[in-house]
Amino acid sequence: MTGVAAESDRPQMSVHDRQRRPASGQSVGELRPVRLGRLVLPVPVILAPMAGITNSAYRQVCREQAELGSGGRRPAGLFTCEMVTAAGLAQRIPKTLAMLKPDPSDPIRSVQLYGVEPVTISRAVTVCGDLGVDHIDLNFGCPVPKVTRKGGGGVLPWKLDRFQAILKAAVRAAEPYDLPVTLKTRIGIDPGHETLLDVGRIAQDCGIAAITLHARTVAQAYSGTADWQRIGELVATVDLPVFGNGDVWEVEDARRLVAETGCAGVAIGRGCLGRPWLFRDLAAAWTEASADHGQAIRFDDPAGAQSDLVVSSAAGRVIPDLASDQSVCAETESADSLRGDTTSTKTADGSLGSAVGATDRVRPTLGEVVSMVRRHAELLVDHFGHEAHAMADLRKHMGWYFKGFPLGGDRRLALSLITSIADIDRLTADLDLTLPYPDDAQDGPRGRQGTARDKVVMPYGWLDSRTLDGDLVDEVAAVSGG
Ligand SMILES: Cc1cc2nc3c(=O)[nH]c(=O)nc-3n(C[C@H](O)[C@H](O)[C@H](O)COP(=O)(O)O)c2cc1C
Repeated sequence: MTGVAAESDRPQMSVHDRQRRPASGQSVGELRPVRLGRLVLPVPVILAPMAGITNSAYRQVCREQAELGSGGRRPAGLFTCEMVTAAGLAQRIPKTLAMLKPDPSDPIRSVQLYGVEPVTISRAVTVCGDLGVDHIDLNFGCPVPKVTRKGGGGVLPWKLDRFQAILKAAVRAAEPYDLPVTLKTRIGIDPGHETLLDVGRIAQDCGIAAITLHARTVAQAYSGTADWQRIGELVATVDLPVFGNGDVWEVEDARRLVAETGCAGVAIGRGCLGRPWLFRDLAAAWTEASADHGQAIRFDDPAGAQSDLVVSSAAGRVIPDLASDQSVCAETESADSLRGDTTSTKTADGSLGSAVGATDRVRPTLGEVVSMVRRHAELLVDHFGHEAHAMADLRKHMGWYFKGFPLGGDRRLALSLITSIADIDRLTADLDLTLPYPDDAQDGPRGRQGTARDKVVMPYGWLDSRTLDGDLVDEVAAVSGG
């Protein structure tokens, strides 16, 4: 193997030195726009891909909230599709293709691919390019045994040659479409087998546009706390934008993550479960910070030149200069009532108000949460084309949406068993919709936590060398979770 040296061969930098180095030309801790190839993200906030969650309907409710926070300016974040198997796309399997269904008003169509074979990844990227996808993310973080057993997801970067070959194949296939390719990874397999800095260096050499680091190991899965210091280490090691990920539950966490690590942006997974309005807080924070820099929503090119936020896709779609995009703003405003524009924020003195500021959190009343659930439900019916399937998907969100509200056990149980939108209406008709958002529902972890794994399941002898001996097999079989 040539050109792929293990991290241990490279000079180490102290954490202190690393954190002093600014990310992507910006000062550490600044909330600034980020460029990914031809795309510009004025609000560098990513809805992290979540299998079984981030379908087009959920992405849309999150995006709509983000656009309220950004004052209607778009893109107000990057809303990534749930993980799609490259093998399924390469073979054009209808069920897999259906997972690419876009949120129709999203200016950036972002898709995450999973695969272990460069040729398959290359074909899948071509399929995405042909279908008008705007951004590809590659999954190198999945801890699910079904995936790691095949050498995929979070254990793949251990095999440096295969990892590099996949990145090269993806970037080459993306070139004709001018598609930026990013990747998402973890610290490594376990504390004795870290990969993050090798990943950073190889990604940079291969033309990857950005890295999202979930600051846990594969062995940790979702347990414990994310080690943000490792995000700072990666920031200081690469000249690529790094998106910090792990345990951002509030806008304050996002600010702290950026300030402590110098990361260019944040990726949010579990924190937005049942709270799509978290994106409204985040977009407001970044939008206000951009205005404070006197840039309105203009991108400050690292090279020094200012460029308008114009994003053109291979499919010929052009997103106009955001600062003057009246049509986008008008569209957002007209749909405000449906999208919960009356959502309240709690001001410093604890009273409820309608203004959203970068320092206030959105705190919807029970009625506004019910409206959000209904909106999500309708979009899911569009997504699945079948009300019962849509409600089956929505059921898992119910506990998150209504967390902390005094609904009573029977009603909670009934909400978790809905089969139609009429069920939602019936079960919420007699609620006191003026109830304020419960204080204790806002804070802290939600969603999957789990326990650490004693042993990460891997192909036989996987850890014995950093190069791949033998083959890996791409499979279409549904994989879930990252
Ligand atoms: C239900 C669920 C499904 C997930 N699926 C994926 C996935 O398909 N691809 C991926 O890269 N990460 C996946 N993740 C990981 C998240 O993207 C994210 O990295 C992780 O939850 C940590 O971020 P958080 O603390 O903000 O949740 C998943 C997480 C959850 C909870």
